[in-house]
Amino acid sequence: MARSDRRLYPWAVQGRVTPLTVTHAKGSYFWDADGNRWLDMCAQLAYVNIGHGHPRVVEAIQRQAETLPVIAPDHTSPPASRLAEMLAEVTPGRLSQTFFTNGGAEANEHAIRMARAATGRQKIVTRYQSYHGATAAAMAATGDNRRIFSEPHLPGGFVKTLDPYRYRCPFCAKESKCTLACADAVEQTVEGEGPETVAAILLEPVTGYSGIVPAPDGYLKRLRELCDRHGILLIFDEVIDGFCRTGKWFASEHWGVEPDIMTVAKGITSGYVPLGAAIVSDRVAAFFEDHYLGSGLTYAAHPLACAAGVATLEVYLEEELADRAERLGKRLLTRLHQIYVKHPSVGDVRGLGLLAAIELVKDRDTREPFTPQRSEVRNDQMTEVVKAVWAKGVRPAFRWNLVIIAPPLTISEEELDEGLDAIEAGLEVADRLVAKAAV
Ligand SMILES: Cc1ncc(COP(=O)(O)O)c(C=O)c1O
Repeated sequence: MARSDRRLYPWAVQGRVTPLTVTHAKGSYFWDADGNRWLDMCAQLAYVNIGHGHPRVVEAIQRQAETLPVIAPDHTSPPASRLAEMLAEVTPGRLSQTFFTNGGAEANEHAIRMARAATGRQKIVTRYQSYHGATAAAMAATGDNRRIFSEPHLPGGFVKTLDPYRYRCPFCAKESKCTLACADAVEQTVEGEGPETVAAILLEPVTGYSGIVPAPDGYLKRLRELCDRHGILLIFDEVIDGFCRTGKWFASEHWGVEPDIMTVAKGITSGYVPLGAAIVSDRVAAFFEDHYLGSGLTYAAHPLACAAGVATLEVYLEEELADRAERLGKRLLTRLHQIYVKHPSVGDVRGLGLLAAIELVKDRDTREPFTPQRSEVRNDQMTEVVKAVWAKGVRPAFRWNLVIIAPPLTISEEELDEGLDAIEAGLEVADRLVAKAAV
């Protein structure tokens, strides 16, 4: 289908865009204008955590629209106050005060701004394998290739360090056990920059669409200690891995490490209305009790978004979706390990809860990627894999040489199996292409 409207589409050469017109959606499925049904194996952009068309959230938005659809952010409203209260309850330990934004990029933008104000320092340390959003500071903090289009970035202040990418780790990929040299690398970066100039270290506990890489055990603890030693703030970007996706309310809870600021978006409303937040600890909040917080957004704490947020959090609690994601995640990983054994084009499988990836390679020994990493141009081989999966009416996400699996947390076991069977059809194509290239 050729592009037929006047939109400019994100992350695309416009002449090559072929958008699907989606007319309606329910549960784990959505339907296009030609009447085709699609199984949503990536919850859109890994955010429709409670599934499509959940009546509780739809009704909450409708009710709020009837009473107070809009109020400026220097007022509060019952849903905004209630949501901030609920966030203080569901987030770990000392995280207690929320600054609302319209999405994840703005949440990171404000986390960075608050960290700089609270420490009186400039530098923000982030990692190459990361995405923090498409606004100016969030893009400067981003490490993966999505940042390139917006370069040059804001002058100064953003420093990149290496990643804990076990499968391709420059330090210990060939060792039987992770050596945590990746944590040493962060430490060396901080030492090299001068710890007294570093305001914050900002990272995703489970790297999102730049690789789906859970932090190695012990890594976050090392970063917490490093930050405490030097008065640096630790910021966790839990935009993609938060809100039950990995089998806990927030991914960092798997390692029992608390940040000073946590940024969230996506799952906070399951995407039904745009909303993000930077949630700060008592200590950071105390700083702003008598210092000016010099920033704001016209639509922040929007009543419709906050009403959707309150209802979404109630769904997570009532339907026990963290437990469900943990249980289904185990089933998913078991199946992914079977897939690894069966398909020679699969180099690695990994994930946590219902956030997982299959990494395709040309050769398991050399680990040469099936299609180049750090490039948004999909080559002919990967296009064939994608077509084989789509032919089954299933849509996971495809990025570089990765098949990303992040379905709604409400997905049934049968639907999960249906999705994985379709992905296997794509892997059979990849196996054939890999075998053909090898002869
Ligand atoms: C980890 C992470 N941080 C930040 C963002 C940016 O969020 P938004 O697109 O809502 O601005 C994203 C978006 O995909 C993300 O995955």
